[in-house]
Amino acid sequence: MTVKAGRLLIRTRIWRKAPIFVPTTIGYPAMRIYLIGFMGSGKSTIGRRLAKRLAYPFYDLDSVLEEKLGMSIREVFNERGEVCFRTEEQKVLHQISKEGRGVIATGGGTPCFFDNMAHMNKTGVTVYLKMSPLSLSHRLENARLKRPLMEGKQGAELLASIRELLMEREPYYLQASCIIKGENAKPEQIMALIFGH
Ligand code: S3P
Repeated sequence: MTVKAGRLLIRTRIWRKAPIFVPTTIGYPAMRIYLIGFMGSGKSTIGRRLAKRLAYPFYDLDSVLEEKLGMSIREVFNERGEVCFRTEEQKVLHQISKEGRGVIATGGGTPCFFDNMAHMNKTGVTVYLKMSPLSLSHRLENARLKRPLMEGKQGAELLASIRELLMEREPYYLQASCIIKGENAKPEQIMALIFGH
């Protein structure tokens, strides 16, 4: 997908004989924006705000999956296992990427399974919210109960698990079209990166 600025030139013949080009702002071009990054990097929070600023629909991959299966993510992991979760996650990703424009908050593992990362790069713009293991551990300390992969871990053990998993996953995350620092990320920064204004 080619990323273009929202300002376009339109040809007009309204009151001159020779065609002229006048600048006009027609809003933001339709596209899919995938937010990727580790658990706790703020993909859903910033995604919701970004979608509101752009007047795009917002999709949270985990929530869509929970609704589809009628189970929480934790239940899917515990009762059906991670392989089933990853298969369903890919199905939901493909389903959402057939919709029109939108901001999509993915799960922390989404880019790292199957050809999900290539699929997202082919069907939209990917933005990696990059965060240090220490910042992630502070955020996950309070929210780890919702994350089956971090269950039962805290303090130094949590930090070590984050470091290890992030090292495995970063090669996928780094294939993103844009990378921004996740701590204090603002929707405006993402808009500037993508649309150039
Ligand atoms: C996962 C991240 C979670 C959720 C699931 C697996 C992962 O999403 O998809 O628990 O593998 O990193 P968040 O990144 O929104 O926590």
